Amino acid sequence: MLDISPVAKTFATMRILSGIQPSGRLHLGNYFGMMEPAIRLQDEGEAYYFIADYHSLTSIHDPSVLRDNVRDVAIDFLACGLDPGKAVFFRQSDVPEVTELTWILSTLTPMGLLERCHSYKDKIAQGISPSHGLFAYPVLMAADILIYNSELVPVGKDQKQHIEVTRDLAQKFNDRYGEGEPLLHIPEPRIAEDSAAVPGLDGRKMSKSYNNTIGIFEDAKALKKKVMRITTDSTPMEDPKNPDDSYIIMLYQLVATADEVEEMKADFRKGGQGYGHFKKQLLDKLTEYFAPMREKRDELANNDAFVEEVLQQGAKQARIVARETLDRVRKAVGL
Ligand code: TYM
Repeated sequence: MLDISPVAKTFATMRILSGIQPSGRLHLGNYFGMMEPAIRLQDEGEAYYFIADYHSLTSIHDPSVLRDNVRDVAIDFLACGLDPGKAVFFRQSDVPEVTELTWILSTLTPMGLLERCHSYKDKIAQGISPSHGLFAYPVLMAADILIYNSELVPVGKDQKQHIEVTRDLAQKFNDRYGEGEPLLHIPEPRIAEDSAAVPGLDGRKMSKSYNNTIGIFEDAKALKKKVMRITTDSTPMEDPKNPDDSYIIMLYQLVATADEVEEMKADFRKGGQGYGHFKKQLLDKLTEYFAPMREKRDELANNDAFVEEVLQQGAKQARIVARETLDRVRKAVGL
C-alpha cells in the first residue's frame, strides 16, 4: 500500500539535497548519476529532493509539456525508490522563497563566474540563444542548495562546477554579511565514482541535448532499438574485441554483477561473437533491472492524487526551512 508517513527527524541530521529538471523522460544518466545514489542516501540523513521546474523554464516554453513532465518525473522518482516517508520530495516552484534568495545572491555574483560555467558555454555552442535565465541558472541552483542548509549534494559530474559556484557564493555572502558567523552553510558535492558520467549511445555523456539517451522506462521495442544503436567499432564477429573502451560494457557494468561483467569482458577478448550478441545481453539485464520499478510506476501512474499529495506535503515541509533561511538572510542584508 502507498503510504506517506512523516519524515524521521530524530537522529539522522545530515541535510542531503538534490534536484532534477523535468525536461523530458529520465534516462540512465539521471538514474545512475543522481537518482540511485540519492535514493540510497535517504537512509543516511534528512534528504530533500525536488523537481527543478523553475530551471526547466529556460528550455520548455509549452505549459502543458512542463506540467506533464513534472508529473512524469515525480512518478519516475517515486517508482525508482524515493520514499516520501524518508525524504522530503517537492516541486521547486512550490517554494517561491528560493527566487528571492536567488536575487539576493545574484547581487554578489561576479559576471565572470557565470561566464566560465561549462554548461552555459555548451548550450551556447549548441546554438541556443541564451536568455538571462539560462545565464543566471547557477545562481538559482545555489539558492536551491543554500536555502535548505544543505550539507551534501549528490549529483553527476556535469553539475560539479555548479556546486563550486554555490560554495563560492556562500563564502562571499558569509564574508560580506556574516560578521564572523557562517550565515550560509558551505555544501559538499557527492559524485558517484562509477557513474559520474554515464555514456550515451554515441559514447558522449548521456544527455537529452545530444539525443543519445536510453530512458529508464522506455517501452520494450524502443529500448531494443536504442540498445542496438550503441556505437561500436567494425571489428569482425570472429575477431577478439577490446572490452576497455566499449560503451556496451560501460553500460552493462551499471546493471550487471562484477562476475557478469568479467564474463562479458572475457567473451569480448575471446572473439567469435558479434557486438549484437553483447547488446542483447545488455538489453536483457536492463529489462530485468528496471522491471520492479516499471511495475511500481504503473501503479503510481494510476494514482495522481497520491503523487500530488506527496509533492504538496513535501513543499510544506521544505517551505518551513526555506522561510527560516530567508528571514536570516533578509535580516543580515538589511531588508
Ligand atoms: P539535470 O536535470 O540535468 O540532471 C539531474 C541529475 O542527473 C545527473 N546526470 C548524469 N549523471 C551521470 N551521467 C550522465 N550522463 C548524467 N546526465 C545527468 C546530473 O548530474 C544531475 O545530478 N541543475 C541540475 C538540477 C538542479 C540541482 C539543483 C541539482 C537544480 N537545482 C540543486 C542539485 C542541487 C540539472 O540540470 O540536473
